[in-house]
Amino acid sequence: MDGNGRWAKERGLPRRKGHEEGGQSIRAIMQAGLKLGIDILTFYAFSSENWKRPEEEVRGLMALLPRMLSKHENILHDNGTRLRAIGRIEGLPDHARKELDRVMAATESYTDRHLVLALNYGSRTELADAAQRLARQVQAGELDPESIDEEALAGALYAPDLPDPDVMIRTSGEQRLSNFLLWQLSYAEFVFVPEYWPDFREEAFVRALQQYEQRDRRYGGVNPC
Ligand code: IPE
Ligand code: MG
Repeated sequence: MDGNGRWAKERGLPRRKGHEEGGQSIRAIMQAGLKLGIDILTFYAFSSENWKRPEEEVRGLMALLPRMLSKHENILHDNGTRLRAIGRIEGLPDHARKELDRVMAATESYTDRHLVLALNYGSRTELADAAQRLARQVQAGELDPESIDEEALAGALYAPDLPDPDVMIRTSGEQRLSNFLLWQLSYAEFVFVPEYWPDFREEAFVRALQQYEQRDRRYGGVNPC
């Protein structure tokens, strides 16, 4: 989700307004996802690098998070969607963490769909955390270093039960990964769209998915002719 600040700036509004409008896009994309039969959506909401932003903006984002969670909780219950979080969520402020934990617990039994929020998330940190986890298992004599393969590493990530994403969409014209799901996106299709996140609603989402549908995924192989 990128471009909230630029969206606001173009309208002479504070960045906070861009983030609020961006929150409405999350709702719109969740609803579009339901309509389109997309069972897992992951939103990169706050990166481990976003702490570098001005204190006031960080505070605003951390206040927005619990507000959005309680406002959109009904969509989760109505559609059997489990809320998940990836990232070092222990680093979030208590008030945000509390609401996040509450909604995650309230939706824990749902298995039909997943809504994943990347919060205080950095992919390099996730990989380092996975390495630590495996190292501790080796130290405890539970794991043989020789058996650490791709599957073992994938199993030590933050949400090991979720499949790799098929498509990664970034808004606002930026064409970077910015430390997002480096491992999991190895074979994903990347779609970069010009819209700022607050303008990214169902129509733009469908257009992005149409681009994805036209891609020819070979996973390193060749197509039979
Ligand atoms: C995305 O929009 C906001 C977050 C996910 C924190 P930005 O705040 O990065 O917007 P620009 O890049 O300044 O326009
Ligand atoms: Mg940005």
